[in-house]
Amino acid sequence: MTMDHDEIREALTAMRARDLPTHGGRTLAYVYDSGLASADAIGREALAAFASTNGLDPTAFPSLLQMENDLVGIAGRLVDAPAGFAGVVSSGGTESILLAVLAARDARPDVVAPRMVLPTTAHAAFHKAAHWLRVEPVLVDVDPVTKRADPEAMAAAIDERTVLVVASAPSYAHGVIDPVEPIAAAAAAAGVRCHVDACIGGWVLPHLRSTEPGQQAWTFAVDGVTSLSLDLHKYAYTPKGVSVLLHASADLRRTHLFASARWPGYTMLNTTAQSTKSGGPVAAAWAVVHHIGADRYTSLARDARTATLDLAAAVDGIPGLSVAAPPDSTLLSLVADDSCDVFTISDEMLERGWFVQPQMRLRDLPATLHLTFSAATAASSALIAADLAASTATAQASGPARSAPELVAMAAAIDPATLDESTFTALLGAAGLAGGDGQLVLPERMAPVNALLDALPPELREALLLGVIDRLARPTP
Ligand SMILES: Cc1ncc(COP(=O)(O)O)c(C=O)c1O
Repeated sequence: MTMDHDEIREALTAMRARDLPTHGGRTLAYVYDSGLASADAIGREALAAFASTNGLDPTAFPSLLQMENDLVGIAGRLVDAPAGFAGVVSSGGTESILLAVLAARDARPDVVAPRMVLPTTAHAAFHKAAHWLRVEPVLVDVDPVTKRADPEAMAAAIDERTVLVVASAPSYAHGVIDPVEPIAAAAAAAGVRCHVDACIGGWVLPHLRSTEPGQQAWTFAVDGVTSLSLDLHKYAYTPKGVSVLLHASADLRRTHLFASARWPGYTMLNTTAQSTKSGGPVAAAWAVVHHIGADRYTSLARDARTATLDLAAAVDGIPGLSVAAPPDSTLLSLVADDSCDVFTISDEMLERGWFVQPQMRLRDLPATLHLTFSAATAASSALIAADLAASTATAQASGPARSAPELVAMAAAIDPATLDESTFTALLGAAGLAGGDGQLVLPERMAPVNALLDALPPELREALLLGVIDRLARPTP
């Protein structure tokens, strides 16, 4: 079926209208808005100009290699990379993390059943890496008050099978910087690699150092840090599709580079998971990074940081709500007391035009609300505080969202290992989420669904979520 230009534009606009806004500062997760129209324009221009170029072969498209090397150099200087460091540009934080785990695993062929030591707050990308790459995750509880990794417990978890130890700067869920110094020291003492996940903090924390000299150390300046990931499509405010993975030396990177000459086609030579790789995102990142420049990144970082601290202070005055941990960066995590629940507050905020992200409980860590502050959100912290207060009051009036006990019992009886289509369909029906054709219908308000999932163990949540994505991702008839 063909469509003319106008029809295509209209159809795209109509589909896009159902999405969250990417600009304007009202979406406090997933998107990063510098508020600089010129940065967006130059990024889009470069994205379009390089969309069809291919990073598959650096000799055919030397411009892309040049831009990647430039970005790796700039990123390295931001995070105190040592002489002789090396890096790659990947499609995002998850890919950078997968590559860091792959490199660590394959550098230790002597270890038969490799493990990595993770604080419980490490990003889910490490669980994906564990699953894909068959590296067993050893989870270590974080400090229940500060939500920071516990260095002694992490050190104690390292054994002869450990190939990687991980710290976050900051963690996504709570926005706190792990104590990288003792963690990296313990890893180094055991001869194990240490990765710092600065995917979300890597481009913002360095720009806050001048105003916050007390920021705890988390870069390559810390002895024992062997690799570090930082995403440009977050606080470098570039279009999606760009992250940097840095290694303290080219040697440490070797085990995730890949070449194949074992087929009769072109020689395949990749630094990352992708082979054909659009030059669009890297060109856009190169353009935006050079357009914004260090001074403006500093003022954007300060704006987002000030807004984060202002909101944290305002939350102190909202009955029922508190800050889960004092924020070290530009992310805020909020927890509700027994009078209400974060899932209803999230729904209420959406009604008021704000997307704040619900996060479920894990072990002793309660469910929270996550807010990522962009520079463009900075002007709105008073408005957000007012709407959070109103949303919390409404959530208190309705009381904590709870699923019907029969529904929780029905879900809890499911064995995640054997969950089949008919059981899943029956559960959807009981939860009121099944359309006439048995298809999944998402409700307007997510609190009851989130409360149900929150009441279940993570393995069962995962099995149900896989059922959800399986139902959602089906061909259009
Ligand atoms: C700390 C951290 N690590 C990793 C990631 C994964 O990044 P991506 O979504 O680009 O794959 C994120 C994303 O928010 C993050 O905050």
